[in-house]
Amino acid sequence: MTVGSAEKFSLRPATMADLDEIWAIEAAVFGDDAWSRDLMREELAADHRVYRALVDDAGVVVGYGGLLAVGTDGDIQTIAVVPAARGGGLGRRLMEALLQAACERGVREVFLEVRADNPVARGLYESLGFEEIGVRPRYYQPGNVDAIVMRRTERGRK
Ligand SMILES: CC(C)(COP(=O)(O)OP(=O)(O)OC[C@H]1O[C@@H](n2cnc3c(N)ncnc32)[C@H](O)[C@@H]1OP(=O)(O)O)[C@@H](O)C(=O)NCCC(=O)NCCS
Repeated sequence: MTVGSAEKFSLRPATMADLDEIWAIEAAVFGDDAWSRDLMREELAADHRVYRALVDDAGVVVGYGGLLAVGTDGDIQTIAVVPAARGGGLGRRLMEALLQAACERGVREVFLEVRADNPVARGLYESLGFEEIGVRPRYYQPGNVDAIVMRRTERGRK
């Protein structure tokens, strides 16, 4: 798979029918940090969640992302793009879709946690107006990697 034209990928709501594909990506991408399949299933079914799947022109899921939106607060729950499709703007597209969904639901502040050793994701979030507001030391185990807590307020919107 090559990224090339972003048009050949489309975004749609993720459904329970996507669970196997999404969880396969989750497990491969996050390794020790991956959610269990049961947790992923619960997320796809739970209230206040917005999950989006990014699919290629053959209908194969190449990325996904999820938002928790309760009242005026939102949390980016997870986001991933398969390695072969990275670097072509798809992660940004997913994040923008989740932020748009948050906005439509009246969310005013969006939070997320990111590993301190993940410069790609941190760069993406900063470019979307997220600011670092705290650190959870050694949050990710094993490995003792800090979690950076980030927030995007209405002021951060472009
Ligand atoms: C984070 C992730 C979703 C980004 O997806 P992507 O499709 O590769 O990202 P994009 O092509 O849309 O790039 C978005 C931004 O990310 C940053 N970025 C992308 N590739 C990068 C690289 N190789 N080095 C540094 N920054 C990079 C840049 O800020 C880029 O913006 P720009 O293109 O305007 O410069 C993807 O890398 C991924 O799935 N990573 C593994 C899972 C993960 O870390 N999820 C986040 C957990 S908090």
